[in-house]
Amino acid sequence: MAAKSKTTQNSAHPMDNFPVRSLDFDIDGLTPEDCAWSQSSPYFSVFINALGLHVPYFERYLIHTMNTVKHDVADDGLRRDMVALAGQEGHHARNFIAFNALMAKRYPKVEKLDSANKAYFKRAAKIDSKKRKVAFTAGYETFTFLAGLIILKNYEKWMADSNPVMKALWVWHQVEEVEHGSVAHDVYRALYGKHEWYRKYMVLMAGLHIARETVKAYTHMARIEGWFKNPIKAASAMGFCFKTLAQMAWQTIPVFARDYNPRNHPLATNKQNPVAIAWRKHDAKGGNVLDIDRDAMAQIMQL
Ligand SMILES: [Fe+2]
Ligand SMILES: [Fe+2]
Repeated sequence: MAAKSKTTQNSAHPMDNFPVRSLDFDIDGLTPEDCAWSQSSPYFSVFINALGLHVPYFERYLIHTMNTVKHDVADDGLRRDMVALAGQEGHHARNFIAFNALMAKRYPKVEKLDSANKAYFKRAAKIDSKKRKVAFTAGYETFTFLAGLIILKNYEKWMADSNPVMKALWVWHQVEEVEHGSVAHDVYRALYGKHEWYRKYMVLMAGLHIARETVKAYTHMARIEGWFKNPIKAASAMGFCFKTLAQMAWQTIPVFARDYNPRNHPLATNKQNPVAIAWRKHDAKGGNVLDIDRDAMAQIMQL
């Protein structure tokens, strides 16, 4: 099935006029054995699965947040981006919840973790103040944006040889996280711009939430994968998890600058990722982005 886009995007900056793509990946065609889906880096595939486990529930919280504050934002362009952001995240959540159901078949504790994550964000949507919702969403989106940039940068090392559907799913997600990477931040600036300390505090809170949930899920998944049977393998598996989280934390440093603006991040502008550029062109032409093997990616890169 070809990609369907509400709008096409041809602008040079990936964050300008980004589209909503209604994509359904063939998760039902995968088996529980496909969960460690990257031969290039099994650690990476399990790491990103672990990180991604709670993300669909955050994405629903984000949609709720955008809907809650939509009428408080005066700028028409920003309101358009808020609607597009909610649209992209809705499609992410649907596909990743389907993948969580598959992971539950391989990892015994996933069902319980999944229910706890769902309950956590449902409660947060109910009890958080408007300001906290916007700040947490902006803080959290800092990390999905930076993770998008880091993952696409390591494409060859982490994803070159991997299950074509899972690769396609994650490339799509990471490209879109970069595209909408400034929206929640812009909304915070528009509504609570003077409260700079609170923005930074919530970046920290969101980062801690992501790290805690990732380590919890990754430890369980690594055990089921059999990586803890050998102490050297166990150290290298856990080392990958902590090293990758540390890399994300390191990239967060500029976010604490008073004038931080995701739109100006060099990896999103002059050093744009070639996979992201080629993928967006391929999608805009109606190319297949639902399963991408090595040959398909080579073709996409030649566009
Ligand atoms: Fe997302
Ligand atoms: Fe996002």
